[in-house]
Amino acid sequence: MKIDGVAYRSVWVDRGDGWSVHIIDQTKLPWALKIVRLTDVAQAAHAIRAMQARGAPLIGALAAYGLCLALRADASSEAMERDAEFLAATRPTAVNLRWALDRMLTRLRNTSPAERAAAAYAEAAAIAEEDVAQNEAIGRHGLPLIEEAAARKGGRRVNVLTHCNAGWLATVDWGTALSPIYTAHNAGLDVHVWVDETRPRNQGAALTAWELGKHGVPHTVVADNAGGHLMQHGNVDLAIVGADRVTRAGDVANKIGTYLKALAAHDNGVPFWAAVPSSTIDWTLSDGVAEIPIEERAATEVTDVTGRLPDGGVATVRVAPQESAAANPAFDVTPARLVTGLITERGRCEASVAGLRALFPDHAG
Ligand code: MRU
Repeated sequence: MKIDGVAYRSVWVDRGDGWSVHIIDQTKLPWALKIVRLTDVAQAAHAIRAMQARGAPLIGALAAYGLCLALRADASSEAMERDAEFLAATRPTAVNLRWALDRMLTRLRNTSPAERAAAAYAEAAAIAEEDVAQNEAIGRHGLPLIEEAAARKGGRRVNVLTHCNAGWLATVDWGTALSPIYTAHNAGLDVHVWVDETRPRNQGAALTAWELGKHGVPHTVVADNAGGHLMQHGNVDLAIVGADRVTRAGDVANKIGTYLKALAAHDNGVPFWAAVPSSTIDWTLSDGVAEIPIEERAATEVTDVTGRLPDGGVATVRVAPQESAAANPAFDVTPARLVTGLITERGRCEASVAGLRALFPDHAG
């Protein structure tokens, strides 16, 4: 996708040296476009943990490149297994991280140490390219949902609500939830996005609004609590969210607050879709609420907010009393019964064992 006319991806290998890894520092958006160069596995792990790079597919791709950086320093089998575990421990909920590292290890275990780094870069590049292709396909498979909503409304503007950032910044390119929106916008449909601000880290207000704006997609940032009201008044035609882990039965783990939006959508008859590449499906789990590990992040993300000052500087201020404790579960699980369906790279399906098995007989077993 483009930033001011220049094509970017969210992660790339330096074209000059051919090995260092670049990311856009998402903690600096929307105030500054800062590119960070990563040269070792500790920097890659820090970037994931500190959420300089975030979003399930992107952290998978970055972890793969992180392992490449690790192998440049030490390509022994012992170091490779240790560094893969180190990267896997950075964030617990998004399964793409473990998926990407398992794929790398499967490819590299039977490769000699002398050849490992080169093989690792090739595999990481394949993961990144496949992510782009899958997300582009999600856009194509999600487009009819927006076209059908437009047809129902006689061609009037379609309003889509989304939560958190599941756009190109959260993937290698295109995004998951935003891919059908970009595809519809590019096709000339009049689509407008309600952007949940997504407290506590405000990925909606800071990142989704920024990337939609850079692409020229009409959008409006709303407080997280506004979604139910907008739905009650007929102002949301459909909701599309991303996912960090989906069970084989279609339960969807996504950014905290997604479940409440699904409840409101259910009560108001608003279709609620999750856009999910197959790398986000955990075929080993059936009960998302019981089984998906939910990341607990720092309390300061809740008690503090960061924003731009009138003088252009960026500052973090505390909004809660100094002495108050805060809790910060970063994800929640929306049970499959509240999910209208899943948009995958192979098409759309019901959020159920049968629905997923029909599209992915090779994975579902
Ligand atoms: O904590 P984050 O910002 O990594 O959480 C990201 C989300 O919840 C996204 O909506 C999800 O990963 C889908 S990414 C395409």
